[in-house]
Amino acid sequence: TTIALLFGGRSGEHGISCVTAGGILGAIDRSRYDVIAVGITRDGRWVHVSDDPEAWTLVDGKAPEVSGTGPEVLLPPSAVGPGEKVALRVIREDRVEPLAEVDVVLPLLHGPYGEDGTVQGALELLDIPYVGSGVLASALCMDKGATKAALTRAGIPTARAVTIDEDRWAREAHHVTETVARTLELPWFVKPARAGSSLGVTKVSDLAQLEHAVKTAFAEDPRILIEEGVSGREVECAVLQAAAGEEPRTTIPGEVRIGEDLDFYDYESKYFGKGTVEIQVPAQLSDAVLEEIRDIAARAFQVLRLEGLARVDVFVAADGAILVNEVNTMPGFTPYSMFPVLWENMGLEYSGLITELVEQART
Ligand code: DAL
Ligand code: MG
Repeated sequence: TTIALLFGGRSGEHGISCVTAGGILGAIDRSRYDVIAVGITRDGRWVHVSDDPEAWTLVDGKAPEVSGTGPEVLLPPSAVGPGEKVALRVIREDRVEPLAEVDVVLPLLHGPYGEDGTVQGALELLDIPYVGSGVLASALCMDKGATKAALTRAGIPTARAVTIDEDRWAREAHHVTETVARTLELPWFVKPARAGSSLGVTKVSDLAQLEHAVKTAFAEDPRILIEEGVSGREVECAVLQAAAGEEPRTTIPGEVRIGEDLDFYDYESKYFGKGTVEIQVPAQLSDAVLEEIRDIAARAFQVLRLEGLARVDVFVAADGAILVNEVNTMPGFTPYSMFPVLWENMGLEYSGLITELVEQART
């Protein structure tokens, strides 16, 4: 069986995706799978790259990058038909040569142009089996405003928020600010609607900070959210698709605890060691609360039509309310990332987890 790993990509989470790929390249069962590494450059070129895990690790605190030196990868020109292998080809010195016949694609991409249904759509068009959610769920979960709307309709609570488009902000910033100030209690989190890893997110504790926060979010996406901050705890639950007709499988949740030295769990603290961050697995919450979180995560998985895997991030508010913060259809997947660590705690180790996802995609 041949697996193509797809990573890097056009989003701001390019480097994180490469580190995830490094983890998987180091752990995927090579006695069972042949692996082809396909990197996507920041400008969207698909190239055949090294499958050596060492090439895709953090070096001196810097994330690796798909440089684009390597033969360009060509997808099949049309659908291959269900059950048939996909012939990937490369361009080498202006000649088209075969690269590999692939059974499954593992799209290890985070953020826009990868986790948002676009790549999934291309793979669907070509009949290529892939790991993870399809077009609709990927697109829906990429957009934090759309996710909120879908969850709210299903009776699953989320933090209160206002969604704003760039042109509306340009026309009536003052009016929007007044409305937000009337409806949402400070602090606020200003977030791009479609981004990940907290890129472009700012905590606003004072109205005077809003203008700058809004600009920072619009730099990532022309649609943003201003969300009411939830004072409470940040807890994450990993979910896997179950056999047909069965409830999704969830893990005992874990918690991200940040120290007083951090405003919130931002990009630098997620990946580059800024501030005090402690990951607690399992989260130190009562069994009843842990069960409720798992139940909500499983329901969110179904309501949002997720497939394969997802990590559902929630807040446990000071009053005990559980609010869904966001849903990641391709969560960070290094051996140290929350998703695999949560499954490890359930007895499913990293390489077994990868096998499980690949086998799921084949059926
Ligand atoms: N968006 C990052 C990769 C995560 O949720 O883990
Ligand atoms: Mg999160």
